[in-house]
Amino acid sequence: MAVPLSTSPSGGSPAGGSPGGGSPEEGHELELERLEIGLLLEAVYRRYGFDFRQYAQASLKRRLRRRMLAEGLDTISQLQSRLLHDPACMEQMLVDLSINVTSMFRDPSFYIAFREKIVPALHTYPFTRIWCAGCSSGEEVYSLAILLQEEGLYERTRLYATDLNEHALATARAGVFPLERMKEYTQNYIRAGGKREFSEYYVAAYDNAQFSRALTENVVFARHNLAMDRGFNEFNVIVCRNVLIYFDRMLQDDVHGLFYDSLGMFGILALGHKETIHFSSHENCYDELDRDEKIYRKVR
Ligand SMILES: C[S@@+](CC[C@H](N)C(=O)[O-])C[C@H]1O[C@@H](n2cnc3c(N)ncnc32)[C@H](O)[C@@H]1O
Repeated sequence: MAVPLSTSPSGGSPAGGSPGGGSPEEGHELELERLEIGLLLEAVYRRYGFDFRQYAQASLKRRLRRRMLAEGLDTISQLQSRLLHDPACMEQMLVDLSINVTSMFRDPSFYIAFREKIVPALHTYPFTRIWCAGCSSGEEVYSLAILLQEEGLYERTRLYATDLNEHALATARAGVFPLERMKEYTQNYIRAGGKREFSEYYVAAYDNAQFSRALTENVVFARHNLAMDRGFNEFNVIVCRNVLIYFDRMLQDDVHGLFYDSLGMFGILALGHKETIHFSSHENCYDELDRDEKIYRKVR
């Protein structure tokens, strides 16, 4: 029997947790719901090869529910059937599941730490490779490119910017962002230690800001799935911010393995404020470069 998803605003039980708390009937329903979600994710994986099986449950549940309602469906099993038979619905689901919230110089303190703690290390190499994993629509990549340019490093850096979501990557490649966000980005840029006028980096055209092509000359944009694809080799820095937060512990651990293998010795890993290397099986392979900014250096 198919059951409708929980209607609680938070989407029900926490990531991976057992029901607990409610009546036995509620517990039973939640168990069924978990089963339906598990079956749907397995079906999506087998049909399309997209693996969301180890994403954190609470957020997944909210998004599946939203898609179910948008499609006018009553149950997750119905959604599963639609996804299997309608690739357009799957494409939309992909957009729903990859949360693309981002901004330029997001968490300005991170960029200050990047300037102070990572830039000096990068100056010791003749050429550097940086992987920006889960780059969304590219605001983070443009921020890094600007910073590297101002620090005299851009010319000898190759930036690999990857994401699961092809739509987000298309925006990233185009480098066109809403003009209305430039005020916020300018403030972030200044707080991030920016050295010029932020407006030097884009040209305003109608409601948009077209960022300078020079900023992407050394950037390779590519689709890459952290849950399924292999890594690359010998990066000096991997920036993966606000992505692991959506994965469950096991997947986070796998991705930490991927990052470890992809970093050269003394390479640097930068995570989001709510993410950590602690509790992963690679914890002991890193030194902490900046506790608050979640910046780590591979040392063994
Ligand atoms: C909240 S955004 C973070 C963007 C940027 N790093 C930042 O901090 O502003 C999360 C991004 O992770 C991407 N993502 C989610 N699952 C992924 C996966 N398995 N492989 C690669 N990227 C993934 C999403 O498409 C989305 O663009």
